[in-house]
Amino acid sequence: MDDIAEMLEAAGRARDNAHAPYSGFAVGACLASDDGRLFAGCNVENAAYPQSQCAEAGAIAAMVAAGGRRIAAVLVLAGGPALCPPCGGCRQRLAEFAGPEVPVHLCDPAGARETVTLGELLPLAFTAASFRRP
Ligand code: THU
Repeated sequence: MDDIAEMLEAAGRARDNAHAPYSGFAVGACLASDDGRLFAGCNVENAAYPQSQCAEAGAIAAMVAAGGRRIAAVLVLAGGPALCPPCGGCRQRLAEFAGPEVPVHLCDPAGARETVTLGELLPLAFTAASFRRP
C-alpha cells in the first residue's frame, strides 16, 4: 500500500465518524508526521454553529497530543462533487506545523483528485518567523 492509500484509509475511517448533522458534509483528514506516523480527524459540528471544528483541526490536535510537531503530508477527504481544499483557518493551522513545500492531497473516496502544496494554498504565510528575530 502506498503512502496516499494508507492516509486515505485512515481519513476514511475518521470521516465515517464525522459529526456533521447540520451541513451533512462529512470530512476526514489525515496528517503524516515527519517520523512517519499518521493522525486522522473528522469534522465535529455543533448546534452553536461557530463552535464546529474542521477535520484538519482534529488531526492536528491528535498529532500534537501524541508528541508530533512537524507535518510531512496532508490529505483531505470529502464526498462532494467539487474538491474540498482546507478552509482559510485550517491553512493557517497547518502552516504552524508544515512548510510551504508540504503536499496537500485533495481526495474523494476514489483517491487523490489533485495535489497542491501548502505554499500554493497559503502564500506569504504569517508564521513565527514573521515576528521572531533569528
Ligand atoms: N470542513 C472541514 O472539516 N474541512 C475543510 O477543509 C473544509 C470544511 C467542514 C466544516 C463543516 O463541518 C463542513 O465541512 C461544512 O463546511
